[in-house]
Amino acid sequence: MPNVTFQSPLLHRNVTVYAVAGDTASILAVADAHKIPIPHDCRDGECGSCLIEVVTLSGKTMGSALTEKEKTQLKSLGKITSDEIRLAEVDDIAPKYRLACQYIVRDQDILVKFTGEPGGA
Ligand code: FES
Repeated sequence: MPNVTFQSPLLHRNVTVYAVAGDTASILAVADAHKIPIPHDCRDGECGSCLIEVVTLSGKTMGSALTEKEKTQLKSLGKITSDEIRLAEVDDIAPKYRLACQYIVRDQDILVKFTGEPGGA
């Protein structure tokens, strides 16, 4: 069962929660369930306000499962390059930035960082 640790200036300390691998819950849904205040608006990969930085703590790094909306939004925010998208999709190398509403929990322990500012990570 993967651990998801949230880190933000909005939190007094890091908060680690257990998530269910293979669940269809997004990181944003996991955060909501544990009252972790990741900024968000559309919940549909279109506004970029739920930008997070993801660090793989254990388990294989996995970079696939970027949605088309997520790729488009991350590119427009300048948070992912075409090379990083190719590495994620071809070599399964995780990009640094993701959208919390699009990122589905996988079987790996991760650190999720967010600033608390919409679109800030
Ligand atoms: Fe709008 Fe995630 S909440 S892109």
